[in-house]
Amino acid sequence: MRVLGIETSCDETGVAVYDDARGLVAQAVYSQARLHAAYGGVVPELASRDHIRKTLPLIRQTLDEVGLRGGDLDGVAYTAGPGLIGALLVGAALGRSLAWAWGVPAIGVHHLEGHLLAPWLETPAPELPLVALLVSGGHTQLIEIAAIGRYRLLGEALDDAVGEAFDKTAKLLGLGYPGGPALARLAEHGDPGRYRFPRPMTERPGLDFSFSGLKTHALTVLRTALAERADHDQVRADIARAFEEAVVETLTIKCQRALQYTGLRRLTLAGGVGANRRLRARLETEIVAQGGQVFYPRPALCTDNGAMIAFAGWQRLRHGHAEPLAFAPRPRWPLDSLPPL
Ligand code: KG4
Ligand code: ZN
Repeated sequence: MRVLGIETSCDETGVAVYDDARGLVAQAVYSQARLHAAYGGVVPELASRDHIRKTLPLIRQTLDEVGLRGGDLDGVAYTAGPGLIGALLVGAALGRSLAWAWGVPAIGVHHLEGHLLAPWLETPAPELPLVALLVSGGHTQLIEIAAIGRYRLLGEALDDAVGEAFDKTAKLLGLGYPGGPALARLAEHGDPGRYRFPRPMTERPGLDFSFSGLKTHALTVLRTALAERADHDQVRADIARAFEEAVVETLTIKCQRALQYTGLRRLTLAGGVGANRRLRARLETEIVAQGGQVFYPRPALCTDNGAMIAFAGWQRLRHGHAEPLAFAPRPRWPLDSLPPL
C-alpha cells in the first residue's frame, strides 16, 4: 500500500510517499521561513497563499522524481489539524480532490499524531508501550503511548510551548525567524558557566511545564549584561547557552520523572525542538545511564514534514479508517479524541 502525505498546517509545505513494502520512497519539504522572516513570525494569510502556490507543483515534482503516477497510489493523507485554518484548508482541498480524482480514500491526519509516529520511520523502530516527549512550536507534552492511537496525556505546557520560548528568546537576542535553530547555533559559542537560568517547575512534583518565565529572565539578564559588559556578542551567546541548558535540563528531568511515574523504560522524542542536538544528546546520556532507551527521528523528520503525515495516514487507512465527505479541518483538535486503531 502506497500513501501520499501532504502537510500544510503552518509554514512548511511537506510532501512524501510512504510505501509499506519499501518504507519512505519520496520526501520533499518547502519552507516558507524566508517569506515570514521580515515579519518576525508566521503571517497566516501569507502562509495559506504560499501553500496554494507550492503544494501541487511539489506533489508533481516529488512523484516525478521517483517515477510514480497518481494511479500508483492507494490513499492520500493530509494534515487536518491542529494548525492555521487557511493553511489546513489548502492541504485538505488538494488532498481530497486528488483522492477523489484517483479513486482512492482520503484521510485527515492529526498533526501531533504525525509527529508522535515519526520515530517509527527509523530503524530500529521503538516497541510499545513508551513515553513520548512532544516538543514543537505550539505544543510541549508528555504522552504515554500504549498502542498507536491510544494516547494518554501525562503533562503539558501551562503557558508558552518550548519552541515558542526558543523563538521568543531568539527574537530578543536579535536573531531571525525561526529562532530555535539560530539560538542553538549561537549557544555553541556561549560559556555554559556564565549565567544560570531557573529550571521551571522542577522543584515541585508533577509533569507540567512552564517556559514563559525563561524569556523574561533572558530579557532581564540581557539588559543588565549589555549595560555592564562591552563584549555584546559574547553576552548574547552566553545567554543563548544558559537558556538552552535550562530548557534541556528541565525537559530531561521531566522525562525521567514520566518514565518513573509510568514504570516504562522507553522514551521517544518528536516535534521541531526534537532536532536540537543538545537535547538529543542529554536525553540519550541520562536515560541510557538509567537502563532506558531513547528513540528519535532524524532532524528532518522532527520538524514539520509530509513523511510523518503519509505514515500516520497509512496506519489509519490500513486499519480501515475512512472519513465522511463532510469531514472538515479542525484548527483545534484534542489528541485524546482520536479513535484507537
Ligand atoms: O514541529 P515544528 O516544525 O512545527 C510545529 O508543529 O510547531 O516545530 C517548530 C519549532 C519552532 O519553534 C522552532 O524554532 C523549533 O521547533 N526548532 C528548534 C530547533 N529546530 C526547530 N528549537 C531548538 N533547536 C533546534 N535545533
Ligand atoms: Zn509540527
